[in-house]
Amino acid sequence: MHQAKLTLDPAFKVAPVSRRTFGTFVEHLGRCVYTGIYEPGHPAADEDGFRRDVLDLTRELGVSTVRYPGGNFVSGYRWEDGIGPVADRPRRLDLAWHSTETNEVGVDEFVRWCRKAGVEPMMAVNLGTRGIAEALDLLEYANHPSGTTLSDLRIANGAKEPHDIRMWCLGNEMDGPWQTGHKTAREYGRLAAETARAMRMVDPKLELVACGSSSSSMPTFGSWEAEVLEETYDLVDYISCHAYYEEKDGDLGSFLASSTDMEYFISSVIATADHVGARLKSRKKINISFDEWNVWYISRFQDAGTPQDWPVAPPLLEDHYHLADAVTFGGLLITLLRNSDRVTAASLAQLVNVIAPIMTEPGGRAWRQTTFHPFAQASRHAAGDVLRVEPDSPLYETKVYGEVPVLHAVATHSATGGTTLFAVNRSADEPLSLEIDARALGGVRVVEATTLTDPDVYARNTADDPARITPRPNADVEPDPLRVLLPPVSWNVIRLA
Ligand code: AHR
Repeated sequence: MHQAKLTLDPAFKVAPVSRRTFGTFVEHLGRCVYTGIYEPGHPAADEDGFRRDVLDLTRELGVSTVRYPGGNFVSGYRWEDGIGPVADRPRRLDLAWHSTETNEVGVDEFVRWCRKAGVEPMMAVNLGTRGIAEALDLLEYANHPSGTTLSDLRIANGAKEPHDIRMWCLGNEMDGPWQTGHKTAREYGRLAAETARAMRMVDPKLELVACGSSSSSMPTFGSWEAEVLEETYDLVDYISCHAYYEEKDGDLGSFLASSTDMEYFISSVIATADHVGARLKSRKKINISFDEWNVWYISRFQDAGTPQDWPVAPPLLEDHYHLADAVTFGGLLITLLRNSDRVTAASLAQLVNVIAPIMTEPGGRAWRQTTFHPFAQASRHAAGDVLRVEPDSPLYETKVYGEVPVLHAVATHSATGGTTLFAVNRSADEPLSLEIDARALGGVRVVEATTLTDPDVYARNTADDPARITPRPNADVEPDPLRVLLPPVSWNVIRLA
């Protein structure tokens, strides 16, 4: 059995928990929108055609923001196609996913869905095939109260109140050669800067996100961020990061340590942004919007290829997550929280059906994937301030990252809500006895300890067995000294008060 120790102390404050860490993403991709959030005719559909079962699960997941409408999709999207009477909306080829877009859902429906789900909308503008004028039109349509052609058109379309969308992404993954309208860093940086400048003329308080790299392995990683920020530094608030991880060649040990790459990604982007800021003699800090992150078996998607015959809402990127995926996912979430001083927004990609914590059957059931649980628990219990914990943990050897701690953890603390420790045991075969020094919290005890684990690390939830992998009480808690036993390959939540 492994042994580890850590100290919880409210003095070790990183930053306040940002609710926007618990954002997700809805793209017009596969079945995320159609038969995901929206399915008129489904027995659970409401008066607007939204699935109530998915709305309920979205609320239970504790989602803060939802990014929309893409993703790669946005780089060919004409937002005007998605407004007005549904019967009059055009059907278009979606080049990103080789599908047919029916436009039954557009910006007005999406914002209506957000209000019902209790989430904040976050919008991306198309800087692939379009530019400044169309971004300004969408902003005016969405946010201007009334008295102009576009704002009055929104009102005529049934949205009397402005949508009041605060966060805007200036394009998506423009560094990627797969992106429609892919650009060099200079080309994109100039366009993003001028789009941001114009959008700020409409509303200086908007929060704007410039595209960073699509992954830390992009050949332009580092130089892309530097060049884009040289052009946009004073005009944007965030630079984005995107990262997806999968188990490759049966290498479970490296996969469970995927957050090592995310940590490197974050620290490199912060260093690059601060370097640009220093050269510009600016006191402003650019934060990170980690607006796509997840476990995604991209290699399976690449092997399957895109559809050939332009289907409507085909099943695409429908990964079925197992326990090891959920534990790796929990490790990524811990890393986002540990960096809350600079990662102040994040979007799990995506919400429903497409690499998602929520799955649905068309016309049928909806259920929670394994990854649903770390997200829902962290969103529910992370409160107050993020606390730095520096565990004294045994190391294990990984093929990809070298030596990595077996224990990965973060805590949050609020004066009223108590302290919560989130911890993963990455060991594939050894339980971990974790000693917690909580003396600085003064006379607290464990009020709840849960663990997400299973003897079969590849066990999944299905529509027929939706609760195979679910958090269960962890009875292996000793009060003095405070010790909790973390099973091998497990995500754990320990609440103290
Ligand atoms: O989330 C799936 C896709 O991954 C997004 O459309 C794109 O931005 C990224 O490459």
